[in-house]
Amino acid sequence: MAKSLTQFVCSECGATSPKWLGRCPSCGTFNTMVEEKVSTAEPLKSAKPSPFNRAKPLYEVTEESFSRTSSGISEFDSVLGGGIVAGSLVLIGGDPGIGKSTLLTQIAAHLSENYKVLYLSAEESCSQVKMRARRLELGCENMLLLNETCIDNLESELDGVNFCVVDSIQAVYTDDLSSSAGSVGQVRECASKLMRIAKSRSITFFIVGHVTKEGALAGPKVLEHIMDTVLYFEGEKQENFRILRAVKNRFGNVAEVGVFEMTDSGVRAVTDYSGIFLSESRGEEAGAAVTPAQTGARCMNVEIQTLVSKTSFGLPRRMPLGVDYNKLVLLIAVLEKRCGISFSGSDVYVNAMGGIKLNEPSCDLAICAALASAQLGVPIDKYTAIFGEVGLTGEVRAVGYCEKRVAECVKMGFKRIYMPAKNMKSAVKYADKITIVPVLYVNKMIKSLFSSPAEKDGDNE
Ligand SMILES: Nc1ncnc2c1ncn2[C@@H]1O[C@H](COP(=O)(O)OP(=O)(O)OP(=O)(O)O)[C@@H](O)[C@H]1O
Ligand SMILES: [Mg+2]
Repeated sequence: MAKSLTQFVCSECGATSPKWLGRCPSCGTFNTMVEEKVSTAEPLKSAKPSPFNRAKPLYEVTEESFSRTSSGISEFDSVLGGGIVAGSLVLIGGDPGIGKSTLLTQIAAHLSENYKVLYLSAEESCSQVKMRARRLELGCENMLLLNETCIDNLESELDGVNFCVVDSIQAVYTDDLSSSAGSVGQVRECASKLMRIAKSRSITFFIVGHVTKEGALAGPKVLEHIMDTVLYFEGEKQENFRILRAVKNRFGNVAEVGVFEMTDSGVRAVTDYSGIFLSESRGEEAGAAVTPAQTGARCMNVEIQTLVSKTSFGLPRRMPLGVDYNKLVLLIAVLEKRCGISFSGSDVYVNAMGGIKLNEPSCDLAICAALASAQLGVPIDKYTAIFGEVGLTGEVRAVGYCEKRVAECVKMGFKRIYMPAKNMKSAVKYADKITIVPVLYVNKMIKSLFSSPAEKDGDNE
């Protein structure tokens, strides 16, 4: 097959060059030249637009109802927004060895019971995939396996196929470009080819993507733009729990997370996730607080742990895990200014348990409580939960899903809950089941939590 014409385009300024260059001669940036296929297609003649393409009012547009198929793993379905949508492209990224292939083999095996499924394994041989299927005790004798790295050879194998797994996008290449598999140009071109096939033949693709050292998906950002759904499979390899997060979803809520457990028989969905984000020694040590966090459609109690130690360098360190850095710096400033608790000589470490990411503002108050607890050396009671957004003036603002959060705490056996006073209306009906402490200002909460007043006198609500 004759090589098609390619050129190198700077992803920063769009300058082109027939050869690869380390530095763009036009804008001077390094490592931005990406190989691209030169389009040889004739430009479309400026004929009248066909009636098909005419603009039409919304009421004339027919709604397509997405039929969703279950993947056999409930948590995976809920992260996708209720099931797999036909003809969609789902990208699953994750660290090496986290369990991407295991998860997709299980899903492919389940789907192959009723549908035609092709597993394109570019990284492993067919026998390796078979060994995995046998180890996981999956009955998937009908699943089609293909060990191929050239994406151009895939199309002919896709007759009648409903679902296709591509493991992984970095290991496949197209003949159209001369650069090696995994390069930015190859990844982009292969992904666009898969998209064209998916949309024209209504085949659903599950695509495995590797992540870079920084944790982002390796390859161009355009890879994520092409996909309908982008999922990250995360977790500490030493621990058995894995979290599947959606960072983009055209068919569902991105705040949804799926919790999985890695067992000998493969990836198992965890439906009782109540204990995963809470430690066993909760309430014994200073520096931990529990907050009911809303992730997508559900609410779960997450423990926030903090450690405050004397700084050895001039500049104190702030190290959050699962919490935004800027948010942490801001809350420390609020505690210093509004509650008189100083962190200027201390390194501060914050961790949201179980590897979950807390992005919503409702966890502010719990972070403040955990930080104050660590600095004052007084533990917070095991059965106390805290939520609320904290403003720069130290006031506690109302947050969404208040009723759900309180209900979750009641369900989990918590006895006391600190929450924004402005949210009280929606929580009063639980007043007989749990002690509700309305909070207007952070310093009031600190005073109530750690009975010895830590803040300055004269704080008025
Ligand atoms: N033969 C085996 N016996 C027991 N456990 C295994 C075996 N092979 C793999 N595992 C477990 O399954 C986990 C996930 O492996 P898997 O191949 O699914 O990861 P992956 O994310 O696809 O990795 P990669 O990025 O290298 O393709 C491994 O980390 C390991 O703990
Ligand atoms: Mg793999």
